[in-house]
Amino acid sequence: MAIRGPAGISISNTGILLICVCSLMLFIYTFRGSISEGTSSIYGSKYDREYKVSEVLSAAIYLTEKAGRLVRDIREKDALDEQSKGETREGVNDPLTEGDLQSHRILVKGFKKAFPALNLVSEEHEEESVDGVIPPSLFHPDVQKLLKSDPSISAEDITVWVDPLDATKEYTERLTQYVTVMACVAVKGVPVAGVIRKPFEDKTYWAWVGHGVSDTLRDMHGSSEGDTLEVIVSLSHKGEVEDVAQKAFAPRQVHITGAGGAGYKTIEVVKGTEDVYVHTTLIKKWDICAGDAILRAIGGTQTDLRGDEINYSHNLDPKNEHGLIATMHNHEDYRKVLQAAAKS
Ligand SMILES: *[C@@H]1O[C@H](CO)[C@@H](O)[C@H](O)[C@H]1NC(C)=O
Repeated sequence: MAIRGPAGISISNTGILLICVCSLMLFIYTFRGSISEGTSSIYGSKYDREYKVSEVLSAAIYLTEKAGRLVRDIREKDALDEQSKGETREGVNDPLTEGDLQSHRILVKGFKKAFPALNLVSEEHEEESVDGVIPPSLFHPDVQKLLKSDPSISAEDITVWVDPLDATKEYTERLTQYVTVMACVAVKGVPVAGVIRKPFEDKTYWAWVGHGVSDTLRDMHGSSEGDTLEVIVSLSHKGEVEDVAQKAFAPRQVHITGAGGAGYKTIEVVKGTEDVYVHTTLIKKWDICAGDAILRAIGGTQTDLRGDEINYSHNLDPKNEHGLIATMHNHEDYRKVLQAAAKS
């Protein structure tokens, strides 16, 4: 049997079947992107739930640098649009700026686009769609050079900590040397890779524990321990720490430097400008995870004041309540003295 078309074209059954099959294939071809995207974000394929540290670290470098450019542009254009998030426990104003928010969006959207099932904790909160977001590169050339073993890890075991803008208060005061953008990768609570970006110096410090570090961290061994002990603390705590530390370390001379930003202070210890970074009050884990990874990678140490390592699992509280000490040398000696001093 054959069907006679209007223009007198005759189409056989086989012809109809062929047209149907072709149309179906064309349909699937056209919409394959959205079909697979929908499936992966709703159900999550096996592939989508396992990630490699090299890829998450590469994305972290790419995204902190991109976010850092916005942070700098907003400062240079004076477009901060400053608001207040309230006060810290110490009664210091805790500002929020357009720099924090836009940096947060770049980081969170970029990570979520590349790794939909990732556990991500950011200092700022704002969930947004990742439609149309350009995914970050997952292959940083310098990270690629360090590839040895790089197994796929279940997303459930990975936590990425993001600090879109560390030292916001100083950012509003144009003390831009203290400003950093940070991202950190923890596996089962242990920091394995960290990035500290200084957008106003155009410098990126990153480390992959057990694999290697950025050029900016190569040959950094901390201080050479002069006669005077150099201690770096928050600008807001300088006064109180000064008296306590001077008594605690006597007769050794102690010099206290106040500085903004946890990322900045850790890098000062790494560079050897400071011997000890100490913090005696509450500090959030997004402030300290990247520095922890960097210190681990180059032979330094970071613990709370009790001497315990900090667990960066997303299943735990993002608050670190027991203080912080970061050093490149003689960690336990300094920690014991400072713990005793902090108690009294
Ligand atoms: C960190 O805490 C998580 C959740 O409680 C736990 O599963 C993990 O083993 C801990 N990691 C370490 C290194 O203690």
